[in-house]
Amino acid sequence: MSNKVSRRQFMSYTLMGTGGFMASAMLMPMIRFAIDPVLQSSDGGDFIPTPQKVDELTETPVRVDFTIKDRKDAWYKSDVANTAWVYKDGDTVIALSPVCKHLGCTVNWSGDESHPNEYFCPCHGGRYKKNGENVPGTPPTGPLDEYEVKVEGGLVYLGKTIPNTLV
Ligand code: FES
Repeated sequence: MSNKVSRRQFMSYTLMGTGGFMASAMLMPMIRFAIDPVLQSSDGGDFIPTPQKVDELTETPVRVDFTIKDRKDAWYKSDVANTAWVYKDGDTVIALSPVCKHLGCTVNWSGDESHPNEYFCPCHGGRYKKNGENVPGTPPTGPLDEYEVKVEGGLVYLGKTIPNTLV
């Protein structure tokens, strides 16, 4: 039996090899692009500086706006505006998420005249105590989330939200 390769076989092997090489050269960048977010390391857990000075905090919650720079959302990077309700409990700085646990509206401190020392959600009348505990009989079924807090250089730094540890 002869091991000779015919001209036709040689041409088809060459074409298959070249075609396979070209296909992989085109597909690899596309696959790399498609799975890029999975390959990126997560930078979760970082603390974001806020403009809030610790010295100026009291036991009354104040609204603190801050920006998360270059937040990665799959393939896109963008600045994200965020808010927290921040107050002091003794020497401890507490920061609560303003996102209502009912359907996600934004709560306001003293937003309802008849309940001045509570967070109030204007969407469906949800109410929370100062520590974020939801008031029974109102729509929210859980307490407001807390932010991880760090103090550095006299400023409040906020991390990711965690389940409320105060209630
Ligand atoms: S979204 Fe806040 S009470 Fe419904």
